Amino acid sequence: MTAGAGTERYNAVARTLHWVIAVVIIGNIIGGFFHDALEDVVNVMPLHKSFGLTVLALSLMRLVWRVMNPAPPLPAHTPAWEKGAAHLTHALFYVLMIGLPMTGWLVSSGSKYPLNFFGLFDVPKFGITPDGAIDGFAHEAHEIMGWVAVFLIVLHVGAALRHHFVLKDNVLRRMA
Ligand code: HEM
Ligand code: HEM
Repeated sequence: MTAGAGTERYNAVARTLHWVIAVVIIGNIIGGFFHDALEDVVNVMPLHKSFGLTVLALSLMRLVWRVMNPAPPLPAHTPAWEKGAAHLTHALFYVLMIGLPMTGWLVSSGSKYPLNFFGLFDVPKFGITPDGAIDGFAHEAHEIMGWVAVFLIVLHVGAALRHHFVLKDNVLRRMA
């Protein structure tokens, strides 16, 4: 196999950002869906918001880095439809990595609770009307995107494991 035909890896910045963002998003999905159930044990929301805003900042950096550093090509044997499905999933992930925190930020802007970053400094709120149309839309969108993220993560992890254990190619290692 020649260099460039699936043997290259994502560079260190891309790999680091991928894994940090992945871990925080998965943690935030669990914290988001279970925050009511965990209420008596721990108030997860302040951490949820701070980690979510961290994802927003890292994802914007990652998007810029990605535009400047094209992804290594997939192995030559990959069928066109799989390449298309991978590109679509990755593009949707970028939409979610920015859309989830942005809608969360909007939801929190309409709430009475303070918004700060790990207790270090206050984060400004958008001037939206509590329980107004934007607040309602942001709430719905935040929840729906949470479910879409669960679906895409299952698909994405399934695809990564299939490449590694069934097709036995380099796709997982290039992000490891
Ligand atoms: C990685 C980014 C994020 C992910 C994956 C995420 C995911 C979720 C999920 C799955 C829920 C539960 C949805 C529901 O049952 O209604 C939720 C709720 C919530 N999230 Fe996020 N979130 C993220 C970022 C943020 C940010 C940045 C903020 C605020 C600055 C935020 C504020 C909230 C609030 C206030 C709720 C509670 C909504 C309610 O039940 O009233 N989220 N989040
Ligand atoms: C919230 C969780 C995750 C998100 C949002 C996510 C997002 C992404 C994105 C956007 C890409 C494309 C990289 C680019 O071109 O910029 C990617 C690639 C990749 N991810 Fe994830 N990922 C997540 C979790 C995982 C997990 C748990 C695994 C492993 C089991 C994984 C394995 C991979 C692999 C192997 C690639 C390279 C695929 C390729 O080169 O086409 N990811 N991921």
